[in-house]
Amino acid sequence: MTETIALTPEERDANLDLDQLKQLVGLVEYDESKDPFPVTGWDAIVFVVGNATQTAHFYQSAFGMELVGYSGPETGNRDHKAFVLKSGSCRFVIKGGVAPDSPLHDHHRAHGDGVVDISLEVPDVDKCIEHARAMGATVLEEPHDVSDEHGTVRIAAIATYGDTRHTLVQRSGYEGVYLPGYVPRSSGFVKREGSPKRMFQALDHIVGNVELGKMDQWVTFYNKVMGFVNMAEFIGDDIATDYSALMSKVVANGNHRVKFPLNEPAIAKKKSQIDEYLEFYRGPGAQHLALATNDILATVDAMTAEGVEFLSTPDSYYEDPALRERIGNVRVPIEELQKRGILVDRDEDGYLLQIFTRPVQDRPTVFFELIERHGSLGFGKGNFKALFEAIEREQERRGNL
Ligand SMILES: [Fe+2]
Repeated sequence: MTETIALTPEERDANLDLDQLKQLVGLVEYDESKDPFPVTGWDAIVFVVGNATQTAHFYQSAFGMELVGYSGPETGNRDHKAFVLKSGSCRFVIKGGVAPDSPLHDHHRAHGDGVVDISLEVPDVDKCIEHARAMGATVLEEPHDVSDEHGTVRIAAIATYGDTRHTLVQRSGYEGVYLPGYVPRSSGFVKREGSPKRMFQALDHIVGNVELGKMDQWVTFYNKVMGFVNMAEFIGDDIATDYSALMSKVVANGNHRVKFPLNEPAIAKKKSQIDEYLEFYRGPGAQHLALATNDILATVDAMTAEGVEFLSTPDSYYEDPALRERIGNVRVPIEELQKRGILVDRDEDGYLLQIFTRPVQDRPTVFFELIERHGSLGFGKGNFKALFEAIEREQERRGNL
């Protein structure tokens, strides 16, 4: 028996409906009562960066996000600044150390700008932690209440790969802008005329890069500790290019709002892109965040106008008869995709359009994907080879191949 999925308040606020979410992020119905670790969806993606003040501006100007909340010295937080940004149902929290001895500086010294916390909304923090502990997870924060005048959230945290954590947030009793201690904040930033209302509506998946030989261990972690299910997509070394190779498996929570592809490097002639990430991030971490859009062409155009740089795709990709045959008909002429370097992949359920940015910080680590799904619940497996070759050209330019 399946239950009808309830929309999260964030999704309702963003005027998203169930059918849209099924198309955008492949939401499925499932029986939460049988889930040992029920997860409603993403709560927030928390970044630690070298300069949160400026990074918050970047996500407003270049990614069209809206500043909605803040914590910092002016609100009694002497340690760091934190900016809360939203686009559709997706929430980013950008943190940077203010106090010279803030532990955030240590994180940044080791990893550079990156994702420190993939925070998930859960209906019952205590139930999740009890199960996670029984399955051997590292509990970083025991369940506890945090309150302010807007209500109470119940929070706990478990460790995942590298220095990354999953904070679990039970927020049904909370009305504030993000968490207790945060105040509403907007900015004077004005979007360019004609740019879309939102450049993306939801978060689709976050890819984790782990060390050679560790992928299956983390797949098992998500299966056992968090009750995640394996999705069909499996990438073996059959998609290796001459130089770069990786293995990838995908796990998802019951309703598929939260999807985690997990990559490990595979042996190849030269350093793979995963090895480059592991070297520059100093270990495992979040590699890319896929943002779901219902109009990838408009989003690419708007982001490009704001200076976001995307990986280029060779003309040969679009002119390859085998690829054209495989792709079939998509909603726009192939030439429109080619102009922007947008990739296409098709499977038995439908197709998807996708494109990848260059790394968004100094280290060649974190980048973004834009994804427009039309039935396909895949991750662009058919594009990996074309994509790898594009990434390798960039690695070569950085002298890291
Ligand atoms: Fe992806």
